Amino acid sequence: MSDIREVIINKSTSLNPIWIMRQAGRYLPEFREIRKQNPNFIDLCLNKKLSADITLQPLKRFDLDAAIIFSDILMLPYGLNQKVEFKKNFGPLLGEINLYEISKVNETDFVEKVLPVYKAINIVSNHQLTHNKSTIGFVGAPWTLLVYMINQQSPKLELKKDFFKDNLLINKLLTLIEKFLKIHIRNQIENGADVIQIFDSWAGLLENKDLPHYVYIPTFNLVEFVKSQGVPVICFPRGIKDYKSYCDIVKPDAICIDYEIDPLKILNEIKIPVQGGMDPKILLSDKENLQKETKKYLDIFKDHPYIFNLGHGVLPETDPNMMDYLVKMVKDY
Ligand code: CP3
Repeated sequence: MSDIREVIINKSTSLNPIWIMRQAGRYLPEFREIRKQNPNFIDLCLNKKLSADITLQPLKRFDLDAAIIFSDILMLPYGLNQKVEFKKNFGPLLGEINLYEISKVNETDFVEKVLPVYKAINIVSNHQLTHNKSTIGFVGAPWTLLVYMINQQSPKLELKKDFFKDNLLINKLLTLIEKFLKIHIRNQIENGADVIQIFDSWAGLLENKDLPHYVYIPTFNLVEFVKSQGVPVICFPRGIKDYKSYCDIVKPDAICIDYEIDPLKILNEIKIPVQGGMDPKILLSDKENLQKETKKYLDIFKDHPYIFNLGHGVLPETDPNMMDYLVKMVKDY
């Protein structure tokens, strides 16, 4: 079993596995090289050979414990025939939502549109570089996908004023998103994903009174689904603040924490395995500071099942040598 699964399933505290969100990405020159020749991000995600190569790039450099498939949470609206593009220096840009068009998509249409993602997972999970390691599949949580599909771009700090205006649209969309997320998860697992992470990047935008309807209930349904497939599930409700209530209600197998929450508070409140936490900006400082901060997280979670990761994705301006230093430090702890 991979060290990551040992920590999640058997609650091991003697292992220090590490993987990094966005470990395959722009901070690596070999990624930028491929990216330069492939200006269309979605097409790149749909190139099974290249997306498998990109997924494996960080494993060639660093002793990481998992490969996370090079894809994007927005492959879901793409598979549902909503237009999705990535504009340089802007981020994702989605087309107008058309409920009628989206409702016509069936499982076969969807799977056919995103099939190369599953094929890439298959290549990666059978590759010698992932031997005894995890292959992590992932999805966006229903709430975060709803945000992108309605807002049509990253919300940055707040939602459009009339975001909740069309109640019927929102509730129909949530139902559809949940249905296709299950299909997307099942296909990733069938092709070799042995851990699933659910990214709820915009969970922190909601007021507490809205959390049950948009975050807790739909995510709980997905967590139950992943468990029914016999695979552990990690949830990352970024910015949620009240991680304890989230864990008590949603019941993931492990919880990934952001860099704004105090890790000591998490240690005191949370019983399930924990992942992540360190601010990605630490990697932009110096080795001394990196060592100090890394040790802080490792010391705090020394007797708690813990997977080292950051509290959000690695920043594009990160020096790969700092990443190398980090991975070696965690492994030598
Ligand atoms: O972690 C990994 O290495 C796996 C690949 C992965 C990507 N996106 C590749 C990617 C994963 C797990 C994601 C998840 C994702 N995508 C999230 C959840 C995590 C988070 O960051 O909060 C979200 C919100 C998205 C949507 C998205 N995709 C945005 C907002 C952007 C633009 C901002 C940015 O960082 O560039 C993307 C593009 C994207 N997804 C890139 C990568 C490597 C950059 C593409 C490029 O080369 O320009």
